Amino acid sequence: MSLVEEARKVRERAHAPYSGFKVGAAIRARSGRIYTGVNVENASYPEGTCAEAGAIAAMVAGGDTEIAEVAVIADCPDPVPPCGGCRQRIAEFASGEVPVTMATLAGATLTRRLDELLPGAFVSAHMAR
Ligand code: THU
Repeated sequence: MSLVEEARKVRERAHAPYSGFKVGAAIRARSGRIYTGVNVENASYPEGTCAEAGAIAAMVAGGDTEIAEVAVIADCPDPVPPCGGCRQRIAEFASGEVPVTMATLAGATLTRRLDELLPGAFVSAHMAR
C-alpha cells in the first residue's frame, strides 16, 4: 500500500468532533517501517494534536528517529499542507530533501521537499557553540 493510502486508511480513525476536519498522516522511516497518526481533538481545544504529531510519536515509540517520507491527507479542495508547527516537528527527524506528499480524499496530490515547506528550519545544530 502506498504511503498516501496508509494515511487515507488511518484518517478514518481521527477524533475531530469539534472541527469536523479529519486528518491522517503516515511516515516511512529509513528502516522501512511505516507509522501512522490522526488528529486527536479535545473539548479543551488547545489540547488537540495534529495527525503528524501522532505519527511522529508512534515512530519514536517504535524505535525509529529518521524520516524518509511523509504523507498527509484530508478532505479538502487542495492537498492539505502540514501546519507550521508540524513542519518543525518533521524537521526534527528529517533532512531537507525528504518528500512530503500532501493529498486530498478526491485523489489530488502535491509533493514538496521539506526544505521547500520550511526553509531555514531551526535545528539542533543552531545550538552548537
Ligand atoms: N490538523 C492536522 O492534523 N494536521 C495539520 O497539519 C493541519 C491541521 C488538524 C488539527 C485540527 O484537529 C484540525 O486539523 C483543524 O485544524
